[in-house]
Amino acid sequence: MAQIIDGKAVSKQVRERVALETRELKKRNITPGLAVIIVGDDPASQVYVKNKEKACEEVGFYSEKFALPQNTTQEELNALVEELNARPEINGILCQLPLPKHLDDKEVINRIAPVKDVDAFHPVNVGAIMIGDYNFLPCTPAGVMELIHSTGVDVTGKKAVVIGRSNIVGKPMAMLLLHENATVEITHSKTVDLKSVTKRADILVAAIGRAKFVTADMVKDGAVVIDVGMDRDENGRLCGDVDFENVKDKCSFITPVPGGVGPMTISMLMQNTLTAAKIQNGIK
Ligand code: GUN
Repeated sequence: MAQIIDGKAVSKQVRERVALETRELKKRNITPGLAVIIVGDDPASQVYVKNKEKACEEVGFYSEKFALPQNTTQEELNALVEELNARPEINGILCQLPLPKHLDDKEVINRIAPVKDVDAFHPVNVGAIMIGDYNFLPCTPAGVMELIHSTGVDVTGKKAVVIGRSNIVGKPMAMLLLHENATVEITHSKTVDLKSVTKRADILVAAIGRAKFVTADMVKDGAVVIDVGMDRDENGRLCGDVDFENVKDKCSFITPVPGGVGPMTISMLMQNTLTAAKIQNGIK
């Protein structure tokens, strides 16, 4: 039986670290500020945004929410981003995705000043990650790395397999594992004989978005298994990309869903906003 990686506990440690540093910054009259933009009324996005505001309060940040109506135009959204780019008390800007269909998320992401891009979605930040010289890491892969570190397992020399090649998770995830000297393979829906690849993984990260896709026969004995999925099972219950009940008996460490990667994401956003505030105030 694997050890369950407690995402809530690791996430709390990150937030405590951020809160402590924020108290120090406040002594110098610096309060990290995060602007969160949400367009329309997608219920899942509403919950995420509320949690982001709550986390800001918890760590002592200033936060401002911009809830724009569904029929917001691209020009209006662009203008808001420009206004926030220019406001010194706003250190981080996050535009909650997905946007309504008539809006172009790329246009918004490219308009956010890279130094305020706390999602690390801007091409400048994506490029910086590629060459290993970055200020921000995208929140989910950064959270996964924290969880792996919490196990005490040394990544150097390990075979790591990432299932999924999205710009937000799969690709940057592979890069972060590579930076820590893992031998990395990225797999995806067109990978031939996926099982033969995943079976070799000492570290397996599942980010495909398909409920219980990773079964026990796809996992190496003693592997570290990280589940980025947020899916619904056949009964409509929240579950991950990994068949947790069966895989847990095979691996050494595993993240649950919920309570694994999920809680880490917002904590890493807090970390990025703190970093943004420090950089914009000439502190490093
Ligand atoms: N929607 C779901 N996850 C995210 C995220 O990490 N950042 C943004 N901006 N939108 C999201």
